[in-house]
Amino acid sequence: MAYETLYRKYRPRKFADVVGQKHVVRAIQNAIASKRIAHAYLFCGQRGTGKTTMARLLAMALNCEKGVSPEPCGSCFACQSIVKGSAMDVVEIDAASHTGVDAVREVIIERVSFLPAALRYKVYIIDEVHMLSTAAFNALLKTIEEPPPQVVFVLATTDPHKVPATIRSRCLRFDFHPISAKDITQRLIFVLENEGWQGRFDPAAASLIARAARGALRDALTMLEQAMNFADEKITVDLVRSLIGVTDDEFLSRLVTALREGDIPNLWGLVSEAVETGRDLHQIAHDLATYLRELLNYKIGVYADETEERISLLQQQSELFSEYELMRLIRSSWELERDLRTATDAQLVLEIGLLNMAMILKAMGEVPARGEIPAEKTEVTPAVTVPQPSRQVVETVAPSTTPAPQPATTPPPQEELSGLDYIRQHWEIFLEQLKRVSMVAYSFLLNAEPTDLQDNQLVLTFQHTFSYECVNDRNYRETIEQCLQEVFNMPGLKIKPTLSAQIAQPIVGTPVDASSPVKTTPTQQREVDTEEYLASLFDD
Ligand SMILES: Nc1ncnc2c1ncn2[C@@H]1O[C@H](COP(=O)(O)OP(=O)(O)OP(=O)(O)O)[C@@H](O)[C@H]1O
Ligand SMILES: [Mg+2]
Ligand SMILES: [Zn+2]
Repeated sequence: MAYETLYRKYRPRKFADVVGQKHVVRAIQNAIASKRIAHAYLFCGQRGTGKTTMARLLAMALNCEKGVSPEPCGSCFACQSIVKGSAMDVVEIDAASHTGVDAVREVIIERVSFLPAALRYKVYIIDEVHMLSTAAFNALLKTIEEPPPQVVFVLATTDPHKVPATIRSRCLRFDFHPISAKDITQRLIFVLENEGWQGRFDPAAASLIARAARGALRDALTMLEQAMNFADEKITVDLVRSLIGVTDDEFLSRLVTALREGDIPNLWGLVSEAVETGRDLHQIAHDLATYLRELLNYKIGVYADETEERISLLQQQSELFSEYELMRLIRSSWELERDLRTATDAQLVLEIGLLNMAMILKAMGEVPARGEIPAEKTEVTPAVTVPQPSRQVVETVAPSTTPAPQPATTPPPQEELSGLDYIRQHWEIFLEQLKRVSMVAYSFLLNAEPTDLQDNQLVLTFQHTFSYECVNDRNYRETIEQCLQEVFNMPGLKIKPTLSAQIAQPIVGTPVDASSPVKTTPTQQREVDTEEYLASLFDD
């Protein structure tokens, strides 16, 4: 017997065998049961999710020798010939290779009025229908609108937007969903057991394939077949990983844990391990981004249809982070992915990228994140990300640098913070935000400190002449001001850059005393070391 690929062998012969797509199955079965059969259907959805399969099942249901039925028998001659694709009356046309009007005329229009040769209904399945030319669509329009009785059209497409509205409006449309990883895993396990692999496969390997297939069951079955061909004894996670290059959960979870712990040696160890075991580093960054997104989804309650094991992993790991931290990490991992695309030394870029992510986490741990300022410190106004001082407080108290005396016993309520204190307290949050807007502007402010606030003008004292001069550039200045206004909700707030009095301008020709200790200011205590700065460059 001729060799049959797995995905063809396991094409469902019954509606009950269709994986997922329950909404489509139910609607079609109900329509058949109540004899309300439309004459044109439009099946939309990504490849490999069952469109052609469903079209054939519909053809079987209409033509089964046991009668028109919501569940065809699958074994009679009509059913068998449809499953195999050999039924004369079920015409499958690949629009990608028959795009022109002539093909449509020849194959469909001229023959559509002939009675079915052997079956009850003639079914035309037009795959990738969006590839038809405009002339071909126009020629088809009339036929689709009023086909002869006993003719049913099924148009399938991965790109419904490219199907003209005139055609779409004449069809009953069904949208096929990507199939969940859980459903795909179950199907793969069913296939494995059926193919005699009981006890010789690791279920985690099946679920790794399922995730790599991204909703397409055909892809999953093709990958499984590849794994079966390569496996000597057993289908393991390692085998699948090396075959299809995806990163397994075990590796990703180790990576994420090391990020959380800020364990740089471990992180870099993982990168070396990846290099030594021949993993694709770009793929790791991609899979890390996906994994982090899954953690975030889990955290905010958007649960994917996953196996129990995976759900418990997602739960465990999502507890390591706040939502905000995850959002930040996801962004960094996208940037890392982008940087890797053009990197000449992928290992270095991956290492620095991970280091950067670990540092972001560390910095966020030190500063309350936006929207996560502890309630006991400040009153968080619900919708806004940063608690806002009342304008009144800013205006009345701002000019004074000494806060109004408080009764000794009660701690000063937050509302009475001066505008300047308020800004200083949330300065890190502002910097985080600025970093997102402009990495360069952010880097200038790393050695500046807000020192005064008067008449809606924030005095920024700089420790370096270079940064000071740069900030005076209008573009950077405006960026900084805009960001300040947004973060602190202080419209019209301007900045006034000044140079720290402690900076003696080196006179040209005078050697600078390198040994003299640099005066440390609160801002400098942020530990802006070269490594962080270098790493931060990868962040934008
Ligand atoms: N929902 C599903 N249930 C069961 N098997 C499926 C399903 N979707 C896909 N398959 C498997 O994948 C194979 C290909 O599916 P099918 O041809 O129906 O996909 P399709 O949506 O038409 O894809 P394309 O857009 O590439 O034409 C089937 O033979 C079957 O083995
Ligand atoms: Mg198809
Ligand atoms: Zn039958």
